[in-house]
Amino acid sequence: MEERRAIKTKLIIPFLLVLFASICCSSAVDTMSANQIVRYNETIVSAQETFELGFFHPGNSTNYYVGIWYKQIPNKTIVWVANRNEPLTDTSAELTLTLQGVLILRNATNGFIVWSSRKSSTASVKNPIGKLLDTGNFIIQEEGEDINQKDPIWQSFDFITDTLLPGMKQGWNLDTRTERNLTSWKSDDDPALGEFSYGIDIRGYPQRIISEGGGKIKFRGGSWNGRRFTGIPSMRPNPYYTFIFVLKPKEIYYQYSLENTTLMRLVLKPNGDPERLYWSHSKQEWILYSVAQQDRCDNYAVCGPYGNCNTEDSPICECLNRFEPKYPDQWRDTEWSGGCQHKIPLDCNSTEGFNKYLNLKLPDTRDSWYNQTMTLVQCEKKCKSNCSCTAYTYTNRSGDGSGCLLWFGGLIDIRTFAEDGDTLYIRLSASELDSKEKSSRSSSAGREVRVIVPVAIVVLVILVSICLFYRFQRKKQQQQETIGNISRHDGESGSGNEDLELPLFGLSTILKATDNFSVNNKLGEGGFGPVYKGVLENGQEIAVKRLAKTSTQGLYEFKNEVISISKLQHRNLVKLLGCCIKGTEKMLIYEYLPNKSLDSFIFDKTQSELLDWPIRYHIIDGIARGLLYLHQDSRLRIIHRDLKLSNILLDMDMNPKISDFGMARTFGGNQTEANTNRVVGTYGYMAPEYAGNGNFSIKSDVYSFGVLVLEIVCGTRNRGFAQNENFNNLIGHAWRLHIEGRSLELVDKCLGELNNVSQVLRSIHVSLLCVQRHPEDRPTMKNVILMFGSEGPLPSPNEPGFYVGNIKHDTTQVSSSCGISADNELSISVMSGR
Ligand SMILES: *[C@@H]1O[C@H](CO)[C@@H](O)[C@H](O)[C@H]1NC(C)=O
Ligand SMILES: *[C@@H]1O[C@H](CO)[C@@H](O)[C@H](O)[C@H]1NC(C)=O
Repeated sequence: MEERRAIKTKLIIPFLLVLFASICCSSAVDTMSANQIVRYNETIVSAQETFELGFFHPGNSTNYYVGIWYKQIPNKTIVWVANRNEPLTDTSAELTLTLQGVLILRNATNGFIVWSSRKSSTASVKNPIGKLLDTGNFIIQEEGEDINQKDPIWQSFDFITDTLLPGMKQGWNLDTRTERNLTSWKSDDDPALGEFSYGIDIRGYPQRIISEGGGKIKFRGGSWNGRRFTGIPSMRPNPYYTFIFVLKPKEIYYQYSLENTTLMRLVLKPNGDPERLYWSHSKQEWILYSVAQQDRCDNYAVCGPYGNCNTEDSPICECLNRFEPKYPDQWRDTEWSGGCQHKIPLDCNSTEGFNKYLNLKLPDTRDSWYNQTMTLVQCEKKCKSNCSCTAYTYTNRSGDGSGCLLWFGGLIDIRTFAEDGDTLYIRLSASELDSKEKSSRSSSAGREVRVIVPVAIVVLVILVSICLFYRFQRKKQQQQETIGNISRHDGESGSGNEDLELPLFGLSTILKATDNFSVNNKLGEGGFGPVYKGVLENGQEIAVKRLAKTSTQGLYEFKNEVISISKLQHRNLVKLLGCCIKGTEKMLIYEYLPNKSLDSFIFDKTQSELLDWPIRYHIIDGIARGLLYLHQDSRLRIIHRDLKLSNILLDMDMNPKISDFGMARTFGGNQTEANTNRVVGTYGYMAPEYAGNGNFSIKSDVYSFGVLVLEIVCGTRNRGFAQNENFNNLIGHAWRLHIEGRSLELVDKCLGELNNVSQVLRSIHVSLLCVQRHPEDRPTMKNVILMFGSEGPLPSPNEPGFYVGNIKHDTTQVSSSCGISADNELSISVMSGR
């Protein structure tokens, strides 16, 4: 404090001078004038006290450095380091600004210069000053000059270390051929130049890349497609920050800026992982907002040339359609780096054309060519006319994007996204082309064709019209039949004018069936409302789920959702028979299953004796198949989000049926407000990343499935499982026994004599694979089924993840993210704390 006051008085005279000199534009900033000395324990602070420049020692290191950090944050978060490669071993150094406008760091004892700022121009300087701006940028400028009009003599923003702050430019100044990229620290204790760098690669069409020592690519964020970098789907419009990519003859850079006052930084960790973090004022800590590199498919070029990586597939690599493995033996051994080749090799024949591939991360553009003003048609022509052009794409979103982009040679580092990926047109020989492309291609192939094609089209149109007419007639008939059905259920079927394939039940039918929702008929209370048993007039038994009234979802959307979900048909899913909508009242009508839910068997002493191992195994298998159908085989791709024993119903033959699927989507999706006091999902079944950050994916379902399997095998609940040791849940217990090779001790006493020990052990093993901490380590349901079905060796599981936080605390976060991150694997969580 004393020293601070001392430096303040020292600064006051030059400071006043500056104030007089630039009354018009500068706010009160502590400045450094020429020959001014800053010593250890003295700092320079930005005007609004956001940042501070001074001496620090990182982590456990005893070395000293000059750096910039956030002033308000208690534990120094360093955002910039001056002498990162020239550490100081004691506190005697001095920082000075020379009369020539160079910042130097000098060992005060022997006078040696340890570090100095490089001066970019040789122009003479009259009266240099240094100041720390509120953005965290330390600049040296001519006194009184406005940096909005003239570039500073030197600025720390030009020498990015491992942190990209809002306003910094990650990329190139092509005038001076200088690159501004992030380079990692060696370790958390050592800010010296590390192994990884994160910048913009300008060979070919620019792309964002993390490279390792020796120029090896670690991760390719990819090329700019007008909205984001093609390989980073987490970059999307959000309320917290905006981002731009600038591609001009003189400069190429990425930059982001904050939309409100929250602090945010993008840092390249010593291990090469880029993390975007924001400061939570309430928690007083940095919270991870997103990571660019997320899963195995983000490792550069895993599947080799023309290979396509898809985390949903097992194995993750497959050849692009119309391509085959170049080295089939290696490929079978999961050695994919050799990649794929055309099934029919190209020969530069003029009949070659292009097929369209959707939802991709565009391949490496280091060997590419682009022209931002060409049209799509010109682009195809350009690629076609050059035999070595293998593919093209075209993006021009309101003038932003690559325009026409051509690839030459192998297409490397492609992956498939579930949605929102880019489109690539790949060159193929004539016989491989999809029909649409074929016809447009042949239309340009000669005069005869020009005559034949219009005639063919006319004939086709006539045929199609006739077909459509007949189908329309048939449909109309059917529709009348359906409406007939509905009216048989009830007279007041409401707006029956749409082409509904799902029966609408009238409210009076339901009231009659459930005896006015009598308490005696209540089966239970599910996630989205109470469930009642009912009997229709024709004797059919039904279960009626009465949805909470607070839904804000429109009627039309609701119907559409219900119709699409009713189309999901699988023997391991509960069948949706119809719905009932009347005013604010919305109900779903399901088939009624007499055997109730699985938890009433498993956790009941007497009932559980009914379930011997073969039946349990049959149940586990059925659940896995139902879930696989939801994740992968159905057209909707549904993440259940609340998989638990009480949501598994059993029919007469003990076949498991998953219920409540699609509920989060139908009802919870737009239900953020109604759900703020309740987590979608059940504690004990929720994957840590979902419970903690609201990230859900098919892999969080896999986690719940793993818990479920353990519970079925062991006959105990995961949560509330009390064992004397430090683990208070079943997963922890199972994990410890697994490590100690005593897994069999886990098995329910009820199972008595086991004659399939290996199957039991295998189930426990698979369930431990499912509950691994990192979602990317967990298998997909497809893999799970393969593992159950085979007898080969299994990978050994990593440590399981459990969520140990305070659930109340995270409630808002979890439910408020539902609407935003639906269906995106590992998508970002929502910020809280304001
Ligand atoms: C890009 O395409 C436009 C339109 O075809 C053309 O006028 C221009 O010269 C091209 N630029 C380059 C660099 O090839
Ligand atoms: C085809 O493109 C390559 C790469 O841009 C170029 O080197 C070659 O000259 C082109 N060939 C023709 C015939 O235009």
